[in-house]
Amino acid sequence: MLVSKPIRFTVAIDGPAAAGKGTVAKGLADHFGFSHLDTGLLYRAIAVKALVGEDPITAANELVASDMTSQTLQSPKVARMASKVAVIPQVRAALLAFQENFASQDGGAVLDGRDIGTIICPEAQIKIFITASAEIRAKRRYDELQSKGLETSYDEVLRDVKERDERDMTRKDAPLKPAHDAHILDTSGLSIMASLQKAIDITSTAFVKAMKI
Ligand code: C5P
Repeated sequence: MLVSKPIRFTVAIDGPAAAGKGTVAKGLADHFGFSHLDTGLLYRAIAVKALVGEDPITAANELVASDMTSQTLQSPKVARMASKVAVIPQVRAALLAFQENFASQDGGAVLDGRDIGTIICPEAQIKIFITASAEIRAKRRYDELQSKGLETSYDEVLRDVKERDERDMTRKDAPLKPAHDAHILDTSGLSIMASLQKAIDITSTAFVKAMKI
């Protein structure tokens, strides 16, 4: 469906690592013609700088778009560090305005992350919490890393996923949890296409209502 008139419509997608939220978010954005922001990249870009000794708070305040394009952002080491810098309240605060502005742009926006429905876009028209068992998520992430030629083992990926879940869910500032009004989408037994179709169905209903079309 292509939308031609200017619109304000925000889709907030949250969930743990490798639940499929990135693929669903991108697919939703393509389907509706909305812009997409993978907010994990912001934390990963800060992590890359922290790994070479930069202060994460300074890195967060000085972040520029080109920091989000490096190939190294996808490595497990960077993911691990991202969940560590994401615990720091000043890092999260420095990223707030950019994410809020992205969410309220004309033309519609899909943001995926951990705190989109709860903190960044509490007024989003649609909130989806995408989840799956830790074992299935680890298998997906392991396959993805293998296909990119990154050396790792399934056990290591599973350990990483569980460790990151724990840190993301128990931190004081903006912990990972479903917003009270989020749709829960468990993708454990679903293909990516089936997961995307469910997200499209959920969003279409709200979109038609919001646009009165
Ligand atoms: O989604 P992704 O795996 O790229 O996120 C990396 C890390 O960044 C997460 O484990 C989480 O700690 C942090 N993050 C966050 N809030 C977001 C997006 C990511 O705390 N909105």
